[in-house]
Amino acid sequence: MYLIVIISFSLYIFTGRLTIMLHLTLRQLRVYEAVAHHLSYSRAAKALHLTQPAVSMQIKQLEESVGLALFEQLGKKIYLTEAGKEFSRYCRNILDQLAEMENVLEEMKGIDRGKLSISVATTASHFATQLLAEFCKRYPKVSVSLDVTNREYLLNHLAQNDMDMVVMGKPPEGLDLDMTSFMENPLVIIAAVNHPLVHTPNIPLDRLQQETFLVREQGSGTRIAMERYFGEHNVKLTTGSEMSTNEAIKQAVQAGMGLGILSLHTLSLELEAQRLVVLDVQSFPIMRDWYVVHRTGKRLSATAQMFKEFLLNEGAQIAEKKGFSLTL
Ligand code: PGA
Repeated sequence: MYLIVIISFSLYIFTGRLTIMLHLTLRQLRVYEAVAHHLSYSRAAKALHLTQPAVSMQIKQLEESVGLALFEQLGKKIYLTEAGKEFSRYCRNILDQLAEMENVLEEMKGIDRGKLSISVATTASHFATQLLAEFCKRYPKVSVSLDVTNREYLLNHLAQNDMDMVVMGKPPEGLDLDMTSFMENPLVIIAAVNHPLVHTPNIPLDRLQQETFLVREQGSGTRIAMERYFGEHNVKLTTGSEMSTNEAIKQAVQAGMGLGILSLHTLSLELEAQRLVVLDVQSFPIMRDWYVVHRTGKRLSATAQMFKEFLLNEGAQIAEKKGFSLTL
């Protein structure tokens, strides 16, 4: 969103005799916030979908405008300077105020013409698009912006408060977040139809140690849940290729490259067409929940509030009606 914001504003600080005028752009503030959050130019660039030189350039221009260094580099790491820490506080307040202003103005337009910006986990996108379609049928004038990304980037969105809300697996404890679960998310083990374990009932967990697993990328909620689960059960899996989409994992499993662990919500078509099989493994599925999440105290627009209630009250039933099984 910040890419299209071209408003430049000035901040006047009266210090007795001295008047300082800062020319800052919202884009610079967004970039600054991401770098301060990640303490890394490359990670900030990735989160913002920019190149690293573009991020460094924005920070350089910002520091020139402020007249102080906001970051310092010690070894390979960067740190906030004292000025940077002070700047961060104001930057957060300004961005929060802007988000609130947007929401209040949206609210004044009424639900009929509002805007909704949500970010969903890659895995949740399978049903989220169906739910959005249903919501838009009821409110045809609402314009929706949907961002699909993995858990790590969803946590960035929440830190930056740049979306109305996020749909994801349970966020980590200790963050200042408002989260409500609205639907179960079973993770199952899938195999190609001709895999030798296909007809075996009640497969012991440690039998899986003889198999190779295709896994989602680092930062994926599915991958974190899978690693935690097998860690807790002292089962050491052999992992083969790493893939950044559920589609790629399904294709690779079908092609016989190994087994996969995915949410049942990504598999409706393949199971119906009998192109993949869910294995009957002891103590499976891993049961997770889908949550609707935003920052605590966030002032939701009328449209966002309506969508949140729609998800909480009807999300699970509609998803099930559209063919997303909630249980095995
Ligand atoms: P993901 O799913 O693997 O697509 O990031 C999110 C989650 O299960 O938390």
